[in-house]
Amino acid sequence: MNTKVNIAGVILNNPVMVASGTFGSGAEYSEFVDLNKLGAVVTKGVANVPWPGNPTPRIAETYGGMINAIGLQNPGIDVFCKRDIPFLKDYDTKIMVNVCGKTTEDYCEVVERLAEEDIDLMEINISCPNVKEGGIAFGQNPKAVEAITSELKKRAKQPIIMKLSPNVTDITEMAKAAEAGGADGLSLINTITGMKIDVNRRTFAVANKTGGLSGPAIKPVAVRMVYQVANAVKLPIIGMGGIATTEDALEFILAGATAVSVGTANFFNPYATVEIVKGIEDYMEKNHIQDIQELIGAVK
Ligand SMILES: Cc1cc2nc3c(=O)[nH]c(=O)nc-3n(C[C@H](O)[C@H](O)[C@H](O)COP(=O)(O)O)c2cc1C
Repeated sequence: MNTKVNIAGVILNNPVMVASGTFGSGAEYSEFVDLNKLGAVVTKGVANVPWPGNPTPRIAETYGGMINAIGLQNPGIDVFCKRDIPFLKDYDTKIMVNVCGKTTEDYCEVVERLAEEDIDLMEINISCPNVKEGGIAFGQNPKAVEAITSELKKRAKQPIIMKLSPNVTDITEMAKAAEAGGADGLSLINTITGMKIDVNRRTFAVANKTGGLSGPAIKPVAVRMVYQVANAVKLPIIGMGGIATTEDALEFILAGATAVSVGTANFFNPYATVEIVKGIEDYMEKNHIQDIQELIGAVK
């Protein structure tokens, strides 16, 4: 049975990865999960300099999910390269580094640094506000998506996976813009902007007022978007949004995702990833599927 998948020339042992920001840099979860069993580890977003993140409270539970407004707290690229990459290099898994920034220059600086590191893929989080364009997220404007993709492609030595925001009217427009800019693949979806009011404190549940909704509640939206994008561009897709079980992961693969990322589920079931790896193998065996390729995008 073959569970290997190909993302822009990088061969993963299986299609299961983790979603950025929900698994630290791997070390936190390595007590629960044998990282060798994952197709890839995706790290928390890293910027050119350390970011302190937003004021607290920064997370709140919702039905079937959670809202977070962490604000991309991270130690900056210097600490990341010294501390996190060497840790992950000890495992037989691929490394995808998630990148964030406030300006195109910020992103370029991080990508230039990572170009010299022994990592496999870069995932570019374009849900960050572009401070020079009045704070609208890069990923909400097709021209900005194309422009930042082509700037980063000039600098990266590894494949560039653009991570799309679902907070748009037509996600296929953003996918096509990333493809036009030279992206090697797409990740989707990031969180959906939401709000929760704490009726006892009579204020916002998270200090930032709004936050990103994630978890099983967003899965149908994510599956729909993966299906739409798979039918609009030729790029490989990493699907995510609410995946907690094998069935969830298979839905994304059948809709057109080559690989999947498990995010919020890691918080309520730290074994979710490895359970899904095993679950996909069992499903393939039971249904006499020799190669996972037969499943990718099989639902038309
Ligand atoms: C606490 C938390 C932190 C996150 N941090 C990042 C991040 O640093 N970069 C990024 O691109 N996405 C980040 N995300 C979004 C996830 O990677 C993922 O796209 C989203 O949560 C949907 O998947 P899920 O429903 O399985 O969690 C974060 C999500 C959560 C819940």
